[in-house]
Amino acid sequence: MIRTKIRWMLALSLAAIPTMGWAGAPSLHVDATHKVFRIDAGDITYAMGVNDDGALQTLYWGGRLQAGDPLGPATLPKSRSSFDPDGANTPQEYAGWGGPITIAPDLKVHFADGNRDLVLRYDSYRIDKDTLIVTLRDAKAGVLVDLTYRADADTGILGRSAHIVNRSGQALIVDSAAAASWNLPPASDYSLRYLTGTWASEWHLRTRPITPGATVLESRRGSTGDQNNPWFAIAHGDAWNESHGRVWFGALAWSGSWSIRIDQDVLNQVRVTGGFNPFDFGYRLQPGQSLDTPVFYAGYTDQGIGEASRLLHRFELTRVLPQAPAPRLRPVLYNSWEATEFKVNESDQERLAEKAAALGVERFVIDDGWFGARDSDHAGLGDWTVNRQKFPNGLKPLIDKVHGLGMSFGLWVEPEMVNPDSDLYRRHPDWVLHFDGRQRSEGRHQLVLNLAREDVRQYVFDVLDTLLSQNDIQFLKWDYNRNWSEPGWPQVAAEDQQKVYVTYVRHLYDILHRLRQKHPGVEIESCSGGGARVDLGIMSLTDEVWPSDNTDPSDRLSIQDGFSYAYAPGVMMSWVTGSPNWVNNRQSSLDFRFLSSMQGGLGIGAKILEWTPAEQATARQYIAAYKDIRATVQQGRLYRLLSPGEQVPYSATESVAGDGRQTVLFAFLRQGHEASDYPTIYLQGLDASARYRWRSIHGKPVAGTPAQASGAYWMNHGIDLLLHDDLDAAGLVFERVGS
Ligand code: GLA
Repeated sequence: MIRTKIRWMLALSLAAIPTMGWAGAPSLHVDATHKVFRIDAGDITYAMGVNDDGALQTLYWGGRLQAGDPLGPATLPKSRSSFDPDGANTPQEYAGWGGPITIAPDLKVHFADGNRDLVLRYDSYRIDKDTLIVTLRDAKAGVLVDLTYRADADTGILGRSAHIVNRSGQALIVDSAAAASWNLPPASDYSLRYLTGTWASEWHLRTRPITPGATVLESRRGSTGDQNNPWFAIAHGDAWNESHGRVWFGALAWSGSWSIRIDQDVLNQVRVTGGFNPFDFGYRLQPGQSLDTPVFYAGYTDQGIGEASRLLHRFELTRVLPQAPAPRLRPVLYNSWEATEFKVNESDQERLAEKAAALGVERFVIDDGWFGARDSDHAGLGDWTVNRQKFPNGLKPLIDKVHGLGMSFGLWVEPEMVNPDSDLYRRHPDWVLHFDGRQRSEGRHQLVLNLAREDVRQYVFDVLDTLLSQNDIQFLKWDYNRNWSEPGWPQVAAEDQQKVYVTYVRHLYDILHRLRQKHPGVEIESCSGGGARVDLGIMSLTDEVWPSDNTDPSDRLSIQDGFSYAYAPGVMMSWVTGSPNWVNNRQSSLDFRFLSSMQGGLGIGAKILEWTPAEQATARQYIAAYKDIRATVQQGRLYRLLSPGEQVPYSATESVAGDGRQTVLFAFLRQGHEASDYPTIYLQGLDASARYRWRSIHGKPVAGTPAQASGAYWMNHGIDLLLHDDLDAAGLVFERVGS
């Protein structure tokens, strides 16, 4: 999934090969005598070794060590009592459920005869280009697992996954399969940060102590979901912050039901196990068949959660996104959803397109309503042909118009769904997830097509391929507006039905992959009623995501802040919409709305035909200003200077361009205070000795603020802004003076 030019360095003994001198490339040392593997990448070292039991266990995961520093040999945690015998608590890299183990297993299987014992032991290793593969095996059971390790030299982020092979000569069922477990250094004072939310209120950061027992983050919904996002960060105590603290963090690349469980065992060992959600899981492997897990990525920094986010952002931009390592900047888009909802037609859309182009918009997108009998959310999904009442001449005249105005053209689709009131469903009622003879629960009047079926996979690909072949389209907003229910697949044998959890998602990825290959000029946005399908799996096949249907610019400050812990601003779309906002009736100025949306990929979703000349002029200015700073905002280093919170009316972010020449500061005040001034803002990440001059996009600092000063001044003395009123905002650009 990751395109990378990184190299491994292989040595047969620790002493023989120095680690240093390989900056820029990850290195791998294999100490064959002690059976110790050591990976150095970025600022991290990761080590594992084979113990006397033959189990592969984690030895170290943390800051970069020096060459030759002693690691290993791996030793078994000692038995404490008959309840914790030798081997029960070994922090295994990938544990089969079997033998005496009490730690969370990574793999559990059962055979037809009832045998469920699986003891995975080190077998061998090999190196395939940039990937270390360590093979574990239960020879007697006939199960083999290839563990893969791939490190990113730049960020030190490690990707791990497992390839499970049935060599037993008989069928077996995989009851649960993790991608990997990450073992942290033992401690009893860890705390966990994670993301939670719900529709229109996604991306809330929460903290909780890690205590003996388990914490489970998960989705049982068939897709990623927004109740939890598959991301975690762990550090000691609860005092860690943006720039302080040793932080272990990770994200799972999977867009189906998933789980990340964090266990603290009796030895205070903390283990993070992530992969397919074991709930309702079951994957039959015939002799010779195999199962690949998703990739579980993780990293480490000793510079707080701010740096953890920046490492993830950089990793996403340079390793994960389809256009990595140099993703194109997000164009300024217009989307007609909030302006017209389902009432789309050629002439209205043309008028909107003209207005949008005049404002400086670069991409024009028609949302829902252009196809089939789609006048509301009750009908039409599945029938992806242009509605001839709304577009009598097809989409071509509008597309030509949009192109003539200098914009690219995009379309909303929701290809995995069908309304029962559709021609597709009338033709193929058996194409949806369902159990025979049982209720088919609807969500937004729609059912989920079973993409695991070959015919459905082919249909969905063909429909989209035809749409993209017949129309000159540059962008798809790919929506997904409900959870699974009754996830039956009655057309296959009972023992294979639960494969739907894996096969559906793999087929979704396959469709996206093939569409991208065949239509390389098309960009795709992942939307799921907002931010319910954002993860590193879907991100490797899409160019941007829609974090939330909530477009209130004040609510958005929290949503965008939460989003940024795990995901890069360069994929986060954010629209300026109407005031008062439909979500909460809140009124806000156009300035506030623009500045809030400029924290990510800027879009407009307002009724722009109703904007006054003054509003249009304001919008034109902001769009022009945005184009000048978007490379910095989308792909620069993000510093969350002040995070918004329920009791915190302030928020401020700073983005520093990759070359350090430009820095963009956004500051917001949700609720004004007569008695208190806005807190002093201390910039970060500047060159202390360089000089920086500021200019305003909107708002200004207090009188007496120098026109230019050193990086040290802006970072240590700080800057005071004139922000006093409810929903006040400022945007300043700092340019480095000279070269
Ligand atoms: C979902 C999306 C919205 C919009 C509607 C259209 O709710 O999140 O942005 O596209 O569907 O029906």
